[in-house]
Amino acid sequence: MPADKAKNAVAVAIHRVSKRFGSVAALDDVSFDIMRGEFFSLLGPSGCGKTTLLRSIGGFEAPTAGDIQIDGQSVLHLAPYARPTNMIFQHLALFPHMNVRDNVAFGLRMKRTDAATTARRVEEALALVRLEGYGDRGIDQISGGQKQRVAMARALVNDPAVLLLDEPLGALDLQLRLQMQVELRRLQRQLGATFVFVTHDQGEAMAMSDRIAVMNSGRIQQIGTPAEIYERPVNRFVATFIGHANLIEGRVAEQRADGTALIDVEGLRVAGTAQALAAPGASMLAVMRYEKLQIEAGGNASVAGTGTSTLATVSEKTYMGAALRFVCRPGVGPTLTVDAPNTEAGRAICEGDSVRVSWAASEINLLAE
Ligand SMILES: Nc1ncnc2c1ncn2[C@@H]1O[C@H](COP(=O)(O)OP(=O)(O)OP(=O)(O)O)[C@@H](O)[C@H]1O
Ligand SMILES: [Mg+2]
Repeated sequence: MPADKAKNAVAVAIHRVSKRFGSVAALDDVSFDIMRGEFFSLLGPSGCGKTTLLRSIGGFEAPTAGDIQIDGQSVLHLAPYARPTNMIFQHLALFPHMNVRDNVAFGLRMKRTDAATTARRVEEALALVRLEGYGDRGIDQISGGQKQRVAMARALVNDPAVLLLDEPLGALDLQLRLQMQVELRRLQRQLGATFVFVTHDQGEAMAMSDRIAVMNSGRIQQIGTPAEIYERPVNRFVATFIGHANLIEGRVAEQRADGTALIDVEGLRVAGTAQALAAPGASMLAVMRYEKLQIEAGGNASVAGTGTSTLATVSEKTYMGAALRFVCRPGVGPTLTVDAPNTEAGRAICEGDSVRVSWAASEINLLAE
C-alpha cells in the first residue's frame, strides 16, 4: 500500500463502546477513529475511563456494548496476544529476575521465534530506545527512565501496529518526564506506528499529540488537535480541565453577523466569539484565559463600550517566574485574573494600582450553556 494511502487509513475504530462495572458506567457510548501513524492521547481526570478504554482496545477488558475494529476488522473475539496491539502498563510490569535482554526478548520467545532472529530484533529494539549495551544489566541495576525504555523496547520488539501506553511516564520526575516525552515522540515518528497514549497531564498531552480526546465520566467531551482543544473548547469541562481561564456567565446583549457577540456580565460588557448563534438574552459562558488578557498601568484613556477592555484595580499580584499573575477588580462586573509576561512594565504594576485590562474578541470563547 502506498505510504500516503496508509496514512489516511483508520487504524482503530471505536464504535458506540460502553463498559459497565456493576452500577458504574466506566465508558458510556464512546465513538471515534484513530488514524494510522497518529499519536493519539486520551486525556481526562482520574476515574474518567481512560484505562478501561485502553484495556478494551488491547483485549484486557470486554466492552458491555459496541465494537472495536483494528484495520477494519472487529477484534472483540480476539485475545490480547492475538491482536495487533501491545500495551505498556502504568506500572511497567518488567520481570525483576530477568536481565534487560531477556525482558525485551520475552514476547518473541513466547511466539517461539528462532534464537538468531530474536537476538537481532532485541538488539534493534534496544537501539531504538538508546539502550545499546545494557542487555546484561539486571532490572534493579538501571534507573527509572531506563526501566521505562526497557518497557518500550519490550513492546516495540513485537512490531505492533498499535501501541497502547497507559501513563507510561507517570512515575518519573519532571525533568526525566520531559526528556522522555521528546524521546517517545521521536520514536513514534521514526516508526510511523500508531500510538494511543493515556495521560491525565494536559501539558504532556498538548506537547506530544497529533490529536487528543478529552474524557470525563466515561464520555468523550471533545476530540481535536491540541490547538483546537485549547483555542476552541466546546464546553465548560474542557475549558477548565485544560489551561487556566476566567469563566464568566452573562447574557447576550448583542449578536453580530461576524460571529462575535457582546455579553453583559453584571454590567461589564465582554465581546467574544460564539461557536453558535445565541438569541439576545440567552445565557452564555465567556472563557477568558488568563494569558489572553492584557494589563497596562494607568488606563485613563476611554474606549468603553466595545467590550474589549475595562478599567480595574489590582487586588493581588503573584510572581511566578515566567509570568506575573494579577487579580483585577473592575469597577463593575466580576474579578478578572490576568497572566502577563514577566517584563519590566509588568513588574512595575503593584497591588492597588489602577490598570486597564483588555482582550481581543477573537480570543474569548462564548459557550452556550
Ligand atoms: N475492574 C473494575 N471493577 C469495578 N470498577 C472498575 C474496574 N475498573 C475500573 N473501574 C471503575 O471504572 C471507572 C473508570 O476507571 P479507569 O481505571 O478506566 O479510570 P482512569 O481514567 O484510567 O483513571 P486513572 O487516571 O485514575 O488511572 C472508575 O470509576 C473505576 O473505579
Ligand atoms: Mg488509569
